[in-house]
Amino acid sequence: MEDRKLSELAALALHARENAYAPYSGYAVGAAILCKDGTVFEGCNVENASYGACNCAERTAIFKAVSEGHREFQAMAIAGGKLGIPPSTYAYPCGICRQVMQELCGPGFQIEVVLSEEEYEQFTLKELLPYGFGGKSLL
Ligand code: THU
Repeated sequence: MEDRKLSELAALALHARENAYAPYSGYAVGAAILCKDGTVFEGCNVENASYGACNCAERTAIFKAVSEGHREFQAMAIAGGKLGIPPSTYAYPCGICRQVMQELCGPGFQIEVVLSEEEYEQFTLKELLPYGFGGKSLL
């Protein structure tokens, strides 16, 4: 994706991060998923006192998109770090979120990890989850 679009998606992930509900970890994450038709859905992490009920920002964004009828995805930006201050390290997606991306996004899905609108790294899902388990594994 071109720099301008990556920068715009980064800004939306940083915006989503402002809504993070992270009273237990103090680690705020925002994500923005770009659908192939240009629609963007934002998501943040939503924690729970029963820790297993926490939801990551990436899955919040993906589930919002799917529940609104979207199934074709191009890219996702992710920004995470200590609550209340700008990200200082790259927040790579956790294994569960990579698995959800494997289910719903293709191997060429672009994952942009973000420090700011100007500083980001880009990967494909295939790079972050090689040899993944998917529906075809069950055949
Ligand atoms: N978190 C995410 O939102 N995305 C990830 O990929 C990794 C972790 C959240 C979950 C929890 O609310 C906090 O970050 C600390 O793990």
